[in-house]
Amino acid sequence: MKLGVIGGTSLFGTKLLEGAKEKEVETKYGNTYLLVTDELVFIPRHGKATNIPPHRINYRANLASFKLLGVEKVIGATSVGSLKRAITPRSLVVPHDYICLYNIPTVYDDEIVHVTPGLDDGLRRTIIEVANKLDMAIFEQGVYFQTVAPRLETKAEINFMRNYADVVGMNMASEATLATELGLRYADISTVDNYAHGIIEAEVLDYKKIVEDASKSRVDLEKVLIKLIEVIE
Ligand code: HPA
Repeated sequence: MKLGVIGGTSLFGTKLLEGAKEKEVETKYGNTYLLVTDELVFIPRHGKATNIPPHRINYRANLASFKLLGVEKVIGATSVGSLKRAITPRSLVVPHDYICLYNIPTVYDDEIVHVTPGLDDGLRRTIIEVANKLDMAIFEQGVYFQTVAPRLETKAEINFMRNYADVVGMNMASEATLATELGLRYADISTVDNYAHGIIEAEVLDYKKIVEDASKSRVDLEKVLIKLIEVIE
């Protein structure tokens, strides 16, 4: 069974996707661009041209195309800001829960269904084992706060969030919730690319710098994903 991975632009051009074939999948929510290898179905979250902003990502089509291709296990690779001084940029976090107080996509527009969300514990444990074997600094749990994209947060918002969560990002809760709705197993590995706004008082937050730092963390992330493909059946 192929593993599904949804990741950012930083994974393009890596060994993970060597020899991958392009594919387009049509779903009732729209089309998805994918890269497929013998072991992996990869969805670049920001599209082929890497220009889909976070608030316009078609999460429903992305998750539905995994379902259509028979993928059952999905790893989300996301970029996050740290809400805690101890969670330093360049580390990896495997969240065990999430908070999303805003609108979230759903596949249940025409029937009344209320899923109970969560992250897949078996997949989480596998990610943690793999990272430990590779001797990587990894936080084995953490609460992910999903914010409203595309803007970053105000200092006051971060001050609120830090009391309840460990990292902040724009994608994971949407993907995890849809995965639950579609019966897919989903876990996330987050690369910490910055301290969130105001966590370090004097630091000015700049999205361009976050993107640069995301490509630095890519190396560790890629190593974990390559190993995961070997161990996940
Ligand atoms: N806030 C929201 N999303 C993010 C951040 C952040 O600081 N860093 C990376 N994704």
